[in-house]
Amino acid sequence: MSQRTLVLLKPDTVRRGLVGEVLGRFEAKGLRIVAMDLRTIDGELADQHYAEHVEKAFYPPLRDFVTSGPLVAMVLEGDEAIEVIRALNGATDGRKAAPGTIRGDLSLSNRENLVHGSDSEESASREIKIWFPDLP
Ligand code: TYD
Ligand code: MG
Repeated sequence: MSQRTLVLLKPDTVRRGLVGEVLGRFEAKGLRIVAMDLRTIDGELADQHYAEHVEKAFYPPLRDFVTSGPLVAMVLEGDEAIEVIRALNGATDGRKAAPGTIRGDLSLSNRENLVHGSDSEESASREIKIWFPDLP
């Protein structure tokens, strides 16, 4: 079933010059870009996006990180895109993520782990509305 999902190439991806590398993996997999935008977000948008995490101990430094510089937000589309992208991204902690995944190959951090991908259809539709409210 074709799905849309919200993907972020977080500020570490932009800072490290890995936008092409990471986006290339999604494109090579066959996912289509439906919307894409380079932007620097404020704490309010971060709180909305990470609503499920705002009370957690790891959230304040995460909030500082995601607002620390430009990121690339996008909507990708394809067959089973939500699960496919979570698999390409790899486990949350880059130190533990499997080689072959984006995080496993390119991140050594549990916070600066390069990418975000929505974790369910409900999250995808909620997050797409937050980031791309005008997308039909
Ligand atoms: P989470 O939704 O658990 O991971 P994922 O991005 O794989 O869906 O957490 C959101 C982000 O919060 C995660 O990408 C990195 C950051 N994070 C931390 O900084 N410390 C932590 O202990 C955890 C679990 C996450
Ligand atoms: Mg998550």
